[in-house]
Amino acid sequence: MLFGVISLGVVKIKEIRLVTAALPYVNNLPHLGHIVGSHLPADIFARFSRLRGYETLFVGGSDENGTPSEIAAESIGVDIATFCAKLHKEHKKIYDWFNISYDNFSRTSSEIHHKMTQEFFLEVYKKGYISKGKLSLFFCENDKRFLPDRYVEGTCAKCGYEHANGDQCEICTAVIDVKQLHDPKCKICGKQPIIRESEHLFFKLDLLSDKLEAWIRSNSHWRSQVSNLALGWLKEGLKERCITRDLKHGVVVPLPEFKDKVFYVWFDAPIGYISAVAEISKANIKKFWKGSDSKVYHFLGKDNIPFHSIFWPAMLIANGNYNLPYNVVGLQYLNYEGGKFSKSQKHGVFCERLPDMDLNSDVLRAYLTFLIPESDDSEFKWNEFQTRINSDIIGNYGNFVNRTLTFIANGCGSSIKKPAKLNDADKAFVDSIKERISKITGLLEAAQLRPAFQEILALSAEGNKYFNDNQPWKLVKENPSRTKEILYLCASLCRSLAIVSSPYLPLTSLNVWKQLKLSGSPDKKGIWDTASDLVIPASHKIGTPALLFTKLTDDFIENMKKIVSQTKELKDIIKKA
Ligand code: 2FM
Ligand code: ZN
Repeated sequence: MLFGVISLGVVKIKEIRLVTAALPYVNNLPHLGHIVGSHLPADIFARFSRLRGYETLFVGGSDENGTPSEIAAESIGVDIATFCAKLHKEHKKIYDWFNISYDNFSRTSSEIHHKMTQEFFLEVYKKGYISKGKLSLFFCENDKRFLPDRYVEGTCAKCGYEHANGDQCEICTAVIDVKQLHDPKCKICGKQPIIRESEHLFFKLDLLSDKLEAWIRSNSHWRSQVSNLALGWLKEGLKERCITRDLKHGVVVPLPEFKDKVFYVWFDAPIGYISAVAEISKANIKKFWKGSDSKVYHFLGKDNIPFHSIFWPAMLIANGNYNLPYNVVGLQYLNYEGGKFSKSQKHGVFCERLPDMDLNSDVLRAYLTFLIPESDDSEFKWNEFQTRINSDIIGNYGNFVNRTLTFIANGCGSSIKKPAKLNDADKAFVDSIKERISKITGLLEAAQLRPAFQEILALSAEGNKYFNDNQPWKLVKENPSRTKEILYLCASLCRSLAIVSSPYLPLTSLNVWKQLKLSGSPDKKGIWDTASDLVIPASHKIGTPALLFTKLTDDFIENMKKIVSQTKELKDIIKKA
């Protein structure tokens, strides 16, 4: 099987893809680490899949259940529904600005999600994977409430990190339970909580250990960091995990004796990947979640790897009615200028103010693509942002497209001519483009988004070399006809670039297409496989050239830095009409 194309005699059936990005907590507006850790790579992959002709659905949504929202809403003095609705909108505004092409950016507060979670649970319950038992949880006597995991912090018993959350340590990624958190503190009031017992439901994760191991080992296409982490967890031994909480806000447990409890947020959140699909249409569930030719790709940050490689697949195996994910694309962390992103220290790029800035979002998408933490953590640096955009994006890609189109406009009366025959240098140029595009295709199929982008930039560098080697500014005086042929090949490469860069730079790609004055669109389903073809009409007139990007000046960077290091207060967002 090549690139997911199944051959059945002469009939070719392309696979179907469901692409997901981790559901962000609604009360936590994203910084660039969140964008580069899930939304952007998922978007690039979904856009590529559509271009390649796969039937693709890309879903995500806001993770709205659980206490963080409940407590934040309470402290602002609004009801939880208003709180979540306004913040959901704010999230959406940010992803829209980045042109994240969600087919549905849903909400886990939706009715369909609650229903789907309850049905999902009842199936798992019916199949014998749920037990009842007592659980010790942190209870704050001062605040008179059970404390959700994220509202307790303490020292991780495994690595000693002092600010580990009640459910997970973000440093060593250990999944923690109460007894593994030393010196606990209530995050609401700072006092030491007590441990109180109550009746709960448990998911028998331990029963699924062998099946999970066989499944993980069978996925040789996963990144090794992801499978190694998952296998490491299995080796430590899986235990039953409590899936209910004593809270008001969330999906109510559909069993009479547990009707006062809701599901643990990590039980309902991944079911959001199913309900977001169902919300578009019920028929999509059959096609994308149950079809034998459908593949599910989850994109998520490092801290979400255990939940997506163990807990969620285990839920799916226990339920038995859905496909398991084909790929769990776990990304590493993005750091910021030598440290971690920190809202309180204003250390980072926070996204709330980006939509109001005079900035082409492709520019940020491009720099973030250089930083996609595919194999190691990476780091955002302002000076690197400026130099990479000015040299690699503007000086290489932008320069090639602009010099080609400007030369056609000014030196060739806007017209180009398809060569009747290619000379050796032309042939070498065209073959090399073909070869590189096939390499880019292979990398993208394997979700290697960052190296694929490097290859795209290498394509425009080849274009610059071909342009320089042929010196059209001299040739045009002696042989205008041959000049038009050279420029035809350059314009064809601009067309190729518009197509293959479209998953990364969607606005720029449309702009190049428009300036070339081509019919159709560079993001048309299935267009990818024509990217290296010489299909511009034999005699063609282009449109009006214009610069694709504006250089990032020192002043611009200074100003941008000031603006985007600020966050917006949740209360201001909520109170705004
Ligand atoms: O870590 C987080 O931001 C979680 N809200 C991710 C949930 S992903 C999925 F399971 F929904
Ligand atoms: Zn407290």
